[in-house]
Amino acid sequence: MRVLVSGGAGYIGSHTVVQLIAAGHEVVVVDNFGNAKPAVMGRLDTLTGTHIPMHAFDVTDKDKTEHLFATERIDAVIHFAGLKAVGESVQIPLDYYQNNLESTFSLLRAMRRHGCHTLVFSSSATVYGDQAPVPYQEDYEPLGAASPYGRTKVMIEHVLRDVAHIETDWRIGVLRYFNPVGAHVSGTIGEDPQGIPNNLMPFIAQVAVGRREKLQIFGDDYPTPDGTCQRDYIHVEDLAAGHVAALNRIVNSDDPIRTWNLGTGTGTSVLEVVKAFERASGQPIPYDVVGRRAGDLPAFWADATRANEELGWHATHTIDDMCADTWRWQSQNPQGYDDSVEE
Ligand code: WQD
Repeated sequence: MRVLVSGGAGYIGSHTVVQLIAAGHEVVVVDNFGNAKPAVMGRLDTLTGTHIPMHAFDVTDKDKTEHLFATERIDAVIHFAGLKAVGESVQIPLDYYQNNLESTFSLLRAMRRHGCHTLVFSSSATVYGDQAPVPYQEDYEPLGAASPYGRTKVMIEHVLRDVAHIETDWRIGVLRYFNPVGAHVSGTIGEDPQGIPNNLMPFIAQVAVGRREKLQIFGDDYPTPDGTCQRDYIHVEDLAAGHVAALNRIVNSDDPIRTWNLGTGTGTSVLEVVKAFERASGQPIPYDVVGRRAGDLPAFWADATRANEELGWHATHTIDDMCADTWRWQSQNPQGYDDSVEE
């Protein structure tokens, strides 16, 4: 199939592009480079051995999105594009609601106008909110997130459900990610957050490579085995494979919409991640334990049974793989993509 990947120059999008092409699909990327570097595209061409058509604009632009569908044959869409920083979303909520919702509306309308009804949507475990029993299961209701970012994902899931309920020729896969980490085994592409990383793994990687002095651990007084929060870290390559599997499933499905958790089903603590990274990198990760971060939950992980059974998909990478692959990317690219001369 010819797949449009919105946000295809981003962290998860770029890894998914590689796996889509490896699976025999053609890919077209659209990205506004708001949270990605143009250098990624040259690396993707190198990794895949093909030139990937690229459109540089924001899919909230309805006219440009319409023009893309009018000029490119698109069989399916994987929609990653959107603003995704939880803390930032609290500061600029209108930007988050407008960008994340309008980009989805713009794509859905252009898809419908051009007879393209196959969509994989990038959602997040954050939609489970803070009351859901662990492990999280897809049928849990009510959805509810604790940040404007998370609420945009909840809203979009509801939009997709309501559209698919009445327009039953849609084939929509909703994927709820847990904590994506890691990098392509070559070290050629990886996570390259702009500014100070919000997330644990990229921050640890920047400490290991000498860009940051030490890690701050946000609380070790949680009701968990070692007092630090537990999360379901999933390797970005497993996550990318989940998108390929979901695409293959929905095109052969009778369900207009279906939701799957993409997680390992295992919780790993902050301290366990630190120790695994030290093993993988051979670098000490100095840290201070400081106060809890607002909004953090003590522990959650996925029930991935539905994806295992319905997609034939399983996460295969261990936390040690995740740390080793992150370290290879970071040590080969200490400044991220800024190291590279734009191809
Ligand atoms: C993990 C653990 C922190 C940084 C977030 C979003 C979620 C999704 C994934 C988009 C927590 C601790 C972290 C640090 C630390 N993003 N930590 N020091 O918060 O589980 O999920 O990213 O979909 O929506 O909420 O991931 O990596 O930020 O934190 O101690 O410098 O690491 O307290 O316990 P989180 P995280």
